Amino acid sequence: MSKKTIILGIETSCDETAAAIIEDNDNGVPKILSNIISSQFDIHKEFGGVVPDLAARSHLEKIDLIVKSAIEQSGLGLEKISAIATTVGPGLIVCLTVGLNFGKAMASSLNLPFIGVNHLEGHALSPKLHSKLKYPYLLLLISGGHSQYLSVNGLGKYIRLGTTIDDALGEAFDKTAKLLGIEFPGGPKLEKFAENGNPNKFELPKPIINKGGCNLSFAGLKTAILRITKTIKTEQEKFDLAASFQKTIEEILYIKTKVAFEEFKKINSKNKNSFVVAGGVAANKGIRDKLIKVSNENNFEPIFPDLNLCGDNAAMIAMVGLEKFKAKQFDSLDLVANPRLSLDKSAKFLKGAGVELS
Ligand code: KG4
Ligand code: ZN
Repeated sequence: MSKKTIILGIETSCDETAAAIIEDNDNGVPKILSNIISSQFDIHKEFGGVVPDLAARSHLEKIDLIVKSAIEQSGLGLEKISAIATTVGPGLIVCLTVGLNFGKAMASSLNLPFIGVNHLEGHALSPKLHSKLKYPYLLLLISGGHSQYLSVNGLGKYIRLGTTIDDALGEAFDKTAKLLGIEFPGGPKLEKFAENGNPNKFELPKPIINKGGCNLSFAGLKTAILRITKTIKTEQEKFDLAASFQKTIEEILYIKTKVAFEEFKKINSKNKNSFVVAGGVAANKGIRDKLIKVSNENNFEPIFPDLNLCGDNAAMIAMVGLEKFKAKQFDSLDLVANPRLSLDKSAKFLKGAGVELS
């Protein structure tokens, strides 16, 4: 019997300390043998956002225990591991460095190949942990730090079709939640809040909705919400504002995704295309439903990661590690963390003022 490839994945790019073991499978969908995630919500709650130094210290305190648990839960001995894959960027440099150094030290002491993984590629490939997925596919990556439409043409082959010109979608959820007095991390709680409100109560702006291709913008929403929160008096109005925000986001993504479908079809022609939605915000039920609708209307097959694989985790890092292992794409132990790593290196940095959107 041939030896199965086993990858240990490690992730510490932001406020989750995570380790996972996956095993390659003949049917093309690897088996997750363990997937441990330790969140730092309680540490950062009182500050209303992630404090980098506190996050790094917590990673340092926990990383060995989390990796040990992942190995124990997998039921395998260290000698079964084929390679170690660790997030190299993007993220907070002080946090990335903890996982990267740990992964490199382990690879060195066990004499195993080491693989640096782009965190965003982890999100991009996350559905491959439970379903077969063929390149090329359209990806909408919506997380706390990124909002992009990309054509995924192969491992490491990304063409960015659109991106946010200001805030990321997760950031917009978190900032809106904060304005509504919802405690950090606000995104998932805001969605629950919205269930009790009237989505048609407040008219909110949809920035650059009819221009700029499938680029996105959310900063104007935050300004509008700030203005409205100063006028609202009742708890019900807060629910209404949350519901109006959720509805506006769904509508923006519905319209922009239609544009992205067209852009994707210009560079890829297949009968039926796959549309992957990944990243923390892909856990949002209302957004999922709306994106399923627009996919069905446009002959795209919508694909979402399992709910527990939408947010940051190490199984997705191990997934990229497995593909890179098969492609013999290894890294040297000199690899350093890159907080600004991107998927499409040729794409222009659009964030900030002065962007011309025709
Ligand atoms: O992918 P992720 O775990 O971390 C990054 O790489 O950024 O995404 C975290 C983001 C946070 O902004 C969080 O509030 C948001 O995803 N999020 C949600 C939901 N669950 C997580 N936003 C809206 N609705 C949700 N259900
Ligand atoms: Zn992430």
